[in-house]
Amino acid sequence: MSYHLDGITPHGGQLVNRIATPEQRQEFLSKADFLPRVQLNERAVSDLEMIAIGGFSPLTGFMNQEDYNRVVTEMRLVNNLVWSIPITLPVTEEVANSLTEGSLIRLDNPVGQFIGVLQLTQKYCYDKTQEAINVYCTNDPKHPGVQVVYKQGSIYLAGDVWLLQRDPHPQFPKYQIDPFESRQFFKAKGWKTIVGFQTRNPIHRAHEYIQKCAMEIVDGLFLHPLVGATKDDDIPADVRMRCYEILMEKYYPNDRVILAINPSAMRYAGPREAIFHALIRKNYGCTHFIVGRDHAGVGSYYGTYDAQYIFNEFQPEELGIVPMMFEHAFYCLRTQQMATSKTSPSIPEERIHLSGTKVREMLRNGQVPPPEFSRPEVAAELARAMQVPVGYEI
Ligand code: ADX
Repeated sequence: MSYHLDGITPHGGQLVNRIATPEQRQEFLSKADFLPRVQLNERAVSDLEMIAIGGFSPLTGFMNQEDYNRVVTEMRLVNNLVWSIPITLPVTEEVANSLTEGSLIRLDNPVGQFIGVLQLTQKYCYDKTQEAINVYCTNDPKHPGVQVVYKQGSIYLAGDVWLLQRDPHPQFPKYQIDPFESRQFFKAKGWKTIVGFQTRNPIHRAHEYIQKCAMEIVDGLFLHPLVGATKDDDIPADVRMRCYEILMEKYYPNDRVILAINPSAMRYAGPREAIFHALIRKNYGCTHFIVGRDHAGVGSYYGTYDAQYIFNEFQPEELGIVPMMFEHAFYCLRTQQMATSKTSPSIPEERIHLSGTKVREMLRNGQVPPPEFSRPEVAAELARAMQVPVGYEI
């Protein structure tokens, strides 16, 4: 792994920037009304954004068939770099038939605003079942990631992209810290080792425990919750962000944590997504990445530690970011603290097991999570949000 003046090397060597320059933007705007259009869904918007800001370095666009096939079957790009999740742009056959390879395509967001451009180099068919089985380890259409694959169009469009401009995040502008900036922040703070933390849940005591264990070893924590598309019953990002702020104020040392949003969409691909999440954080400048129990898992599709074992399939220098693995953490009634089976002498009856799913279940049943589950201020905020009829179910 190489450290240099600007911190850890991005995946593939260079941080990608696909945000149009003012001149390119003018050119694209002048052509906008004459270009064929493709409307992106929420995930594709996130992917476009992540490519443009360098979060998906070395990708400069949506994958072509050669990269796609190698990623699905071998978790590598054609150039041999490790990459575990296909980044693709699905469209229906009808849309694909209306587009010509070699042309510039206008990319609109779900409400029809022009947000980017695709230099279309290839249109190709793919095997949905093969993608489901290889990437998600199941072809069960109830799996939320597989469901997306089965419902989407049957043709992928490939080619380099440009984001028209980098707008501030509509909900969390203060926490929109792109890879170029996070790297600068880490440098300004003098941090040499930074641990990244992925979550799609409010932070509970087990999360806090593993983060703080990691913080004993490294210089800083990059708390990087995912705010892109999640499944409907996950807690919405605005509620979660309030919970993170509450925690930062009272329970974390301000000068050793940076809270920033990760605009990506959740795939629920378990082990493969753990690798993907680690590579994204490498691009943001993290040197370490936390992988706990059932990382990015859903239901019982993956074994508790599958997302840790998958790291053994690669050489450390191929990944270029160090995974920090944690066992299933719980509240130990005997020692009255958070622990894992590595540190606690307790018997199973003395262990209160925590998970985001469990917290969501309690809230749904009108119960406020106890302090062994969640810090009281976070529990109060979650309970408050649950009572607000804002069109979602907690
Ligand atoms: S997810 O994005 O990986 O699905 P989640 O919020 O569930 O997010 O978990 C964030 C991180 O904390 C993951 O690395 C996960 O493995 C870890 N984690 C969650 N709960 C526990 C627990 N009880 N013990 C150890 N690690 C945990």
